[in-house]
Amino acid sequence: MARFIVFEGGEASGKSTQSIRLARRLGAVHTREPGGTAVGASLRTLLLDARTVGLDDRAEALLMAADRAQHVAEVVRPALAAGRHVVCDRYVGSTLAYQGHGRGLSAVDLRHISAWATGDLWADLNVLLDVPLEVSRRRAEGAQDRLEASGDDFHDRVVRGYRELARADAAHWVTVDGTAPPDEVETAVWQAITARLPDLVAADGADRA
Ligand code: TMP
Repeated sequence: MARFIVFEGGEASGKSTQSIRLARRLGAVHTREPGGTAVGASLRTLLLDARTVGLDDRAEALLMAADRAQHVAEVVRPALAAGRHVVCDRYVGSTLAYQGHGRGLSAVDLRHISAWATGDLWADLNVLLDVPLEVSRRRAEGAQDRLEASGDDFHDRVVRGYRELARADAAHWVTVDGTAPPDEVETAVWQAITARLPDLVAADGADRA
């Protein structure tokens, strides 16, 4: 059965590295939000560009939802329908953490918008790479994009928000300590997801790598 697995976490939590490694191991389609389609790439530029000033919080949420609608229609659903596992770097959890806990928008509204945008497609499992804010700050280097530049209080709410989301829906979330070296995180992620979704072991390509 084709599975939809999502990596979530705050800034510099290691999602990109770990989601790529898992996708390779599973022979899965790897994709990301925002920006997993050509339309989404334009939306990502608009959303993350530090020169985008004065973007209203609701407009931000709707642009994330627009990216998601296009991405689900063009990439995620077709891949799942073709029997491929999909590993995605960010999904609805990011909207709940950033626009919900971070910006203070209603979680009920955001879930409703996300359900509409995706035609009710939810991840089989969300992997939260938990990294404290101090570690993210230490890892981050170079110029900050618009969201990275939203300030420590915002990012603190995001990190705490993720922990709350994972606690509240343990059936669909696993939390992995993202502060360890990448190989250790990879092992912990594999153990966590195969404990939840044992059918994935059959797709393990690690021995063939
Ligand atoms: P990243 O994918 O490179 O981590 O950057 C994406 C940024 O967009 C990150 O700051 C989180 C943010 N984001 C949201 O605020 N809401 C969303 O729904 C998604 C998918 C991303």
